[in-house]
Amino acid sequence: MKSVMVTGAAGFIGSHVVEALLERGARVVGVDNFDTMYERALKERNIAQAVSRGATLVEADITDAGTMRELMQRHAPETVVHLAAKAGVRPSQRDPAGYAHTNVTGTAVVLAEGAKAGVKRCVVASSSSVYGNNETLPFSETDRIDRPISPYAATKVATEALCFTHWHAHQTPTACLRFFTVYGPRQRPDLAIRKFMRWISAGEPIEFYGDGSASRDYTFIDDIVAGVLAAIERIDDHGYRVWNLGSDAPVTLRELVRAIERTVGREAQLDRKPAQVGDVERTWADLKRAREELAYAPTTDLLTGLAKQWAWMRAED
Ligand SMILES: NC(=O)c1ccc[n+]([C@@H]2O[C@H](COP(=O)([O-])OP(=O)(O)OC[C@H]3O[C@@H](n4cnc5c(N)ncnc54)[C@H](O)[C@@H]3O)[C@@H](O)[C@H]2O)c1
Repeated sequence: MKSVMVTGAAGFIGSHVVEALLERGARVVGVDNFDTMYERALKERNIAQAVSRGATLVEADITDAGTMRELMQRHAPETVVHLAAKAGVRPSQRDPAGYAHTNVTGTAVVLAEGAKAGVKRCVVASSSSVYGNNETLPFSETDRIDRPISPYAATKVATEALCFTHWHAHQTPTACLRFFTVYGPRQRPDLAIRKFMRWISAGEPIEFYGDGSASRDYTFIDDIVAGVLAAIERIDDHGYRVWNLGSDAPVTLRELVRAIERTVGREAQLDRKPAQVGDVERTWADLKRAREELAYAPTTDLLTGLAKQWAWMRAED
């Protein structure tokens, strides 16, 4: 891990990955355009520590091929960790073209310009949402992914297809990591756990979609970062490979709310709303492949992870 370019470096997952790479002695160049999906100030805070420890941060748009070419040539990274994307399922319903532009065109640009600059390996963010409403649980990497139910999920299916093509054309080892709902310090402000903690602690009602039986395999950020680092180290042995990074411990929305009530020490008031189009019914990661090939072993259970996120939120606000 000598030199690494991380796209989406100022985001939730990206900023943690940059810090972990610096700790391992890598030279890191982060790229982020401070997309307006959420406040710029939050992203500046995310990445501040890493910049003070020596990471270079470039404000640039991954869909701008000329700029990405210049950056790839100038920094000549060995490894690209591509995390930049418009993330979030629900807003993608209102802006499918914007999501396709950033997530599909952007990925094509990052991969193509990386190939021209001699990048040796790529690790790319995909998502559990590619499984759609598949009925067989847990979700395995070999399951079909041709029925995504949101524009966001469709862009991640396309991202994976581009990664396979990239491997086929250039023989550049390329990993696609299917992250399962990630939480922890710096979590995106649009995600349920962060919103619920804020609302419940303030005594405000929480948006509670559907009957509460929808379930998610919530995964703590440190476990995701460990999986990303393992993928960088091991992808050269695999060529193109997809790995699930989850926690193999799904909980229902009802159980999640109870766990957050315990964490913040206050009861939730529910503002019940109908289930949302595009939200999948359940996610659950089959980790057999990641355990065997990445030695991936998530260690943070939900209550421990929630306590860490809550401690961080209290210190921040
Ligand atoms: N957080 C999760 O639960 C989760 C789950 C599955 C997959 N993912 C994927 O992981 C990656 C990181 O997600 P996150 O939760 O950290 O989101 P995030 O929004 O916090 O981080 C993404 C970063 O990408 C940047 N970005 C967006 N468009 C860009 C562009 N055109 N050029 C340069 N930078 C751009 C944003 O400014 C942001 O800082 C994304 O690819 C996302 O789809 C996240």
